[in-house]
Amino acid sequence: MGCVRGSGLFSLVLVLGLVLINWVIFCNGSITSSFVRKLEKTIDMPLESDVFRVPPGYNAPQQVHITQGDVEGKAVIVSWVTPKTPGSNTVLYWEENSSKKLKAQGKSKTYKFYDYTSGYIHHCTIRNLEHDTKYYYVVGVGQTERKFWFFTPPETGPDVPYTFGLIGDLGQSFDSNITLTHYEKSPIKGQAVLFVGDLSYADQYPNHDNNRWDTWGRFVERSTAYQPWIWTAGNHELDFAPELGETRPFKPFMHRYRTPYRASGSPEPFWYSIKRGPAYIIVLASYSAYGKYTPQFKWLEKEFPKVNRTETPWLIVLMHAPWYNSFDYHYMEGETMRVMYEPWFVKNKVDVVFAGHVHAYERSERVSNIAYNIVNGICSPVKDQSAPVYITIGDGGNLEGLATKLTEPQPKYSAFRESSFGHAIFSIKNRTHAHYGWHRNQDGYAVEADTMWFNNRFWHPVDDSPSSDS
Ligand SMILES: [Fe+2]
Repeated sequence: MGCVRGSGLFSLVLVLGLVLINWVIFCNGSITSSFVRKLEKTIDMPLESDVFRVPPGYNAPQQVHITQGDVEGKAVIVSWVTPKTPGSNTVLYWEENSSKKLKAQGKSKTYKFYDYTSGYIHHCTIRNLEHDTKYYYVVGVGQTERKFWFFTPPETGPDVPYTFGLIGDLGQSFDSNITLTHYEKSPIKGQAVLFVGDLSYADQYPNHDNNRWDTWGRFVERSTAYQPWIWTAGNHELDFAPELGETRPFKPFMHRYRTPYRASGSPEPFWYSIKRGPAYIIVLASYSAYGKYTPQFKWLEKEFPKVNRTETPWLIVLMHAPWYNSFDYHYMEGETMRVMYEPWFVKNKVDVVFAGHVHAYERSERVSNIAYNIVNGICSPVKDQSAPVYITIGDGGNLEGLATKLTEPQPKYSAFRESSFGHAIFSIKNRTHAHYGWHRNQDGYAVEADTMWFNNRFWHPVDDSPSSDS
């Protein structure tokens, strides 16, 4: 009897304990996920890994990647590397079901970084493409030819569905490979990747071993050759190494990865904008000057009035260093940019901001922190239905490992946070709704560990916080 009574008491204490834990976790609607990833060291894949394999054939093009080549989505920049000789700069391309082959001419260049000399890096812009069309393309013309394909986006319009993948801080570890595989195998297919910075992490190797830029290019080719990745520059693209005599920031990144910055009136490749289907995407540079009167500031000031929400209802911003981050790592590193630009984001009703840098996942409430004026003391973020949701998706899986230290208690602005690797999918359905899902690498391909139905801030600006459902 005594034993039974004892176990009843134990059960009561257990239930009360669980209620208390739930209350602690869920008060204010903030969730620190209870999922605990088994912590293992994040290790880069060795050079002989199959994902780094050099394609067969003499001087075969490798590291093939595409990105959008204009503002409207009717141009594509095709890039590739030939290792031994320059080879042809020509891209052959044709519409599916058409026998008429077209040609575009690019250029190639090499660069040196300390004791490393690159292969011949080719960039070729294909223009005047039809919207919503499948194209095949061939590089390596006249030597070892390799054929790929891509789809152009539908014409910009308010109710054109379009699905973006979100990947950040990818690197080239075993975990990076799992992230990319999960993105590829997701039953909801991304049509373009919004990449929020930190690509290869070659700078973590002795002398910034640029061979690791090459391996990264070969690793991601299975996706980047077939769908555009929209690039954001992160701190690991800086490759600023005065100790090696390398004093020109972003040298490897600029040679290897192109952006269509001139088309949107930007003077630098690190900040620019594109339209793609129903979305207007502004890419900002956390590691270029952004203070008042700087080129980036002046460009962004002119950029917001260009956004026509009747044409592109969804206003998305990409940057590397997050403004709202409640992990210990990189805490408040985005603060100075936030102070400069947040009022514009709220005034212009940005729908969502995606950032990387912190190697974990976090989604914010719709909050703003723009009321403070030095003397009034109003310096806490408040719920604001004109403000974006801030999502940190720097959880691609690079060799630096996970950010596991959290600031406590979880700030009210933080809706969901978890130290796991993964990727996300932002699927725009029409002018009012978009479905968002974050996928954790430890789950099955179809599992969404955090979801949210976004209500467009211009067309349907009602509270869409999942925590407001209850
Ligand atoms: Fe970073």
